[in-house]
Amino acid sequence: MNRLTGTTAIVTGGAQGIGAAIVTRLAQDGARVASLDIDAARGQALAADLQSQGLNVLFISADVTIEDDIRRAVETTEAHFGPVDILINNAGRNAYFDAAAMSSDDWDASMALNLKAAWLGAKYVLPSMKRRGGGSIVNISSLHARLTTEGMFPYAAAKAGLTGLTRSLALDYGAFNIRVNAILPGWTRTAGVDDWFSRQPDPAAAERRVIDTQPLRRIASPADVASVAAFLVSADASAITGAEIAVDCGLGAKYAG
Ligand SMILES: NC(=O)c1ccc[n+]([C@@H]2O[C@H](COP(=O)([O-])OP(=O)(O)OC[C@H]3O[C@@H](n4cnc5c(N)ncnc54)[C@H](O)[C@@H]3O)[C@@H](O)[C@H]2O)c1
Repeated sequence: MNRLTGTTAIVTGGAQGIGAAIVTRLAQDGARVASLDIDAARGQALAADLQSQGLNVLFISADVTIEDDIRRAVETTEAHFGPVDILINNAGRNAYFDAAAMSSDDWDASMALNLKAAWLGAKYVLPSMKRRGGGSIVNISSLHARLTTEGMFPYAAAKAGLTGLTRSLALDYGAFNIRVNAILPGWTRTAGVDDWFSRQPDPAAAERRVIDTQPLRRIASPADVASVAAFLVSADASAITGAEIAVDCGLGAKYAG
């Protein structure tokens, strides 16, 4: 028996990147997994592929910035798989705005995806977790919650908010055996990171520079983040809540100056 057998999980932004790796890993560990995404083509394709391997994965088309989509997705998950034991709030996107130039709508959109969506997800799974005596939520924050670089406004603010949200929920729901933790990935080999490298004047040199800066001399894979998420939601992590776990190949330990 795998360590998540008998559990039901929701993963947001599950169609690609870190979310897809988490969907895959939780399903491999025995969970019934609902993958939520706005990218229905990719999300369906991944779910079909995992189903063909005998894994229990359901794709649900949902925009996590819309409260009604989240409510409906939780209901659909419960109807297919039963009550939700695990929620991974993963959907998110970098933002590169100038604070003096960005519009209020741009701010709201960034906060809606990178911060508010995690609260909305929690809002619709916490009541049943509380009734049933436990559950686990993991918020995929970022190293930018602690340390950031120029031009990452307001992503760093949203991701720092997400770790604050993690702590509040951990305290408010700890007495109900609901654990809430954050993972802070550093550079992770996803389409966005590959795209960033490809847009540099010398992509190979840019990649080498980034890798040389990492204490482990490599950047993480989505599977590296997924294995930590699978650990955090498992009974192996039953005494961990309110924690921020960096998966950053050591970058957050480094003094830049
Ligand atoms: N890749 C990195 O280096 C890195 C580093 C630190 C943190 N992160 C965080 O990890 C998470 C995943 O990042 P990634 O690089 O895998 O991203 P990605 O862009 O590869 O995948 C994100 C997924 O979320 C989906 N999505 C976007 N908006 C959505 C919405 N409104 N509703 C539902 N789904 C939506 C996208 O369609 C996509 O499938 C994000 O929260 C990101 O901030 C990534």
